[in-house]
Amino acid sequence: MRPSELISENAIAERVAALGAALSAEYRDAARPPLLVCVLKGGFVFLADLVRAIDVEVEVDFIGVSSYGAATSSSGEVRVTKDLEHAMEGRDVVIVEDIVDTGLTLAFLVDSFRRRGARSVRVVALLDKRGRRRVDVPVDFVGFEIGNRFVVGYGLDADERYRHLPYVGVLEEDHG
Ligand code: PRP
Repeated sequence: MRPSELISENAIAERVAALGAALSAEYRDAARPPLLVCVLKGGFVFLADLVRAIDVEVEVDFIGVSSYGAATSSSGEVRVTKDLEHAMEGRDVVIVEDIVDTGLTLAFLVDSFRRRGARSVRVVALLDKRGRRRVDVPVDFVGFEIGNRFVVGYGLDADERYRHLPYVGVLEEDHG
């Protein structure tokens, strides 16, 4: 099945350029480069494009997380499967997410990075399913707000398929 296009490659490129400009402005006068933390796996395509749209120095790191029953349990247990290499102490951290859905993953990460001593924690997400939020967690920079669609492409998968697509597509219609 070929996903139908929801957000085109061109539309993504335009938004990523704008997000890169906004982040550049935000950290232009920072004493130390911000640390961009890509949330694996889905964030890898967005991160790769985003860093090239930023014209101030940045550092990058990667974290792997897996969530258990985020859709069904209110606790939304999140487990770190691959940890960061950088220390967080005193850093301005920018979490780079492909999509925020219930917000449980993000809430866990923001809390964890604050506990580890980050000076500031901001969030940039390409896609925001705001209507699905179960915890209130601020997303500072949003690419596109979308409804409750099952989206794939541009890093996002369905059972590990479709991550390579250059656009964001929809596999099926609303499913509740
Ligand atoms: C997605 C996304 C976020 C999380 C958001 O990752 O990248 O990390 O889900 O969901 P939440 O707001 O409900 O917590 P996913 O679990 O699909 O893993 P993947 O990126 O490795 O595909």
